[in-house]
Amino acid sequence: MTAAPASLSGKQRERLLREARKVMKQAYAPFSRFRVGAAMLTAKGELFTGCNVENASYGLSNCAERTAIFRAVAQSGPKLEIRAIAVVNDQGIPCSPCGACRQVIYEFGPKAVVFFQGAEGWKESHITELLPEGFRFK
Ligand code: THU
Repeated sequence: MTAAPASLSGKQRERLLREARKVMKQAYAPFSRFRVGAAMLTAKGELFTGCNVENASYGLSNCAERTAIFRAVAQSGPKLEIRAIAVVNDQGIPCSPCGACRQVIYEFGPKAVVFFQGAEGWKESHITELLPEGFRFK
């Protein structure tokens, strides 16, 4: 069964986008030159942010979304529940979370709302729309 999306106020959404744009400037992206920022709101009301961190061994690069999630676990512990996560990039192009990030978002936020730039403007999707049948032990 698909859980209903947790609603978010316009003010909360604006805050997430603002924080995502701020952290985007910290990105380490010398290989793609594509800077990405993510900001996430937890069920406890905490806010965590992350940027992409690339590597000369390209496949080791970490996306902004996963940086934010791993940072949240390291700072606040494993009882993380993601309410919403917003993703921005410095080129204003469509950029939804990659498949790996969708699975990691789902682990900690099976009801999460995801804000991202779609092909036809800003989109708000439930994680299960982006990742149907995601894998989880619980
Ligand atoms: N990237 C993200 O950080 N998040 C996304 O949602 C899409 C892609 C990063 C990974 C890599 O550093 C760069 O963007 C180009 O793929």
